[in-house]
Amino acid sequence: MTSSPYFAPVNNSISTFKDNIFEGKVLFCTGGGSGICKGMTESIMRHGANAVIIGRKFDRLTEASRELSERTGRTCIPIQADVRQPQTLQAAAERTMEYFGRIDFVICGAAGNFMSPISGLSENAFKTVIEIDTLGTYNTVKATIPHVRATKGAYVHVSATLHYRGTPYQVHVSAAKAGVDAISNVVAVEEGPHGVRSNVLAPGFTSGTEGMRVMSGNKTNKTEGFSNPLGRFTEIHDVANVAVFLFSPAACYITGQVLPVDGGAEHLRGDFFPYPSSVVDPSSVRKLLKGKM
Ligand SMILES: NC(=O)c1ccc[n+]([C@@H]2O[C@H](COP(=O)([O-])OP(=O)(O)OC[C@H]3O[C@@H](n4cnc5c(N)ncnc54)[C@H](OP(=O)(O)O)[C@@H]3O)[C@@H](O)[C@H]2O)c1
Repeated sequence: MTSSPYFAPVNNSISTFKDNIFEGKVLFCTGGGSGICKGMTESIMRHGANAVIIGRKFDRLTEASRELSERTGRTCIPIQADVRQPQTLQAAAERTMEYFGRIDFVICGAAGNFMSPISGLSENAFKTVIEIDTLGTYNTVKATIPHVRATKGAYVHVSATLHYRGTPYQVHVSAAKAGVDAISNVVAVEEGPHGVRSNVLAPGFTSGTEGMRVMSGNKTNKTEGFSNPLGRFTEIHDVANVAVFLFSPAACYITGQVLPVDGGAEHLRGDFFPYPSSVVDPSSVRKLLKGKM
């Protein structure tokens, strides 16, 4: 199989945006103790914001907040909360207000995932993922909305692209993320007149994350058995850059949108033609083509 001759570069948003665009701002991030959400928090802090990261495992959160503060020179505090319990999120929002006095940006990123066919998935397992991803997003929005209104801030909801088609063994996550997308649209419409924006960021299969580990059986090779238009898996930096953009003044007229960060994978119909060999070398499908090559 011909592999892609092109691999998109991995850029750091610091080279694109001014490093102080979020000076004085405060980020509230569920799921910020690990993976993609930790990476987004780091990028937003590198542009001047302070942050609160939320999760259940306090030791991991404490270690992550220490690392994030050290790497960025800003302040990150860990707050233990379970997004399924509205009162723990209310307490986290109040603690953020006591500590920093404001909340400008919210990332709803806490999520659970595992692979299972419907035939083997219990009602409880399905419900747990809905409770973390969908209800957790709703609870996070409820706990933070008065504060985000006060700063005319913005939400970024972390979804996925799985539910655009029927992804096997992902019925629970697909249903949960469809709900997340719907919540974001309603927040955009209800809160827009109060100066609040809400968008969805949908990462593709992201290297070096728990999601990648669960869905690929620990595969880390960036090209093996995989192709998309930009030639590689999503990197945490790619998602973090888009979060910086969505919170930045450059996105002040963007709300109610879903932005996949998947290198164009969602548009690929590789089942019709071998990909990318058919576009890299059209002569390989010469018999099928009418026009000039
Ligand atoms: N990785 C991918 O390829 C991929 C692709 C598409 C979308 N996504 C989305 O991107 C986000 C991050 O994924 P990731 O792969 O980086 O996974 P991850 O490292 O496992 O991040 C999930 C985070 O959510 C927290 N969390 C889980 N349940 C929680 C609860 N009940 N209350 C509070 N926090 C909770 C976890 O912390 P605790 O365990 O400490 O609670 C963890 O920090 C998720 O929304 C995921 O659906 C990932």
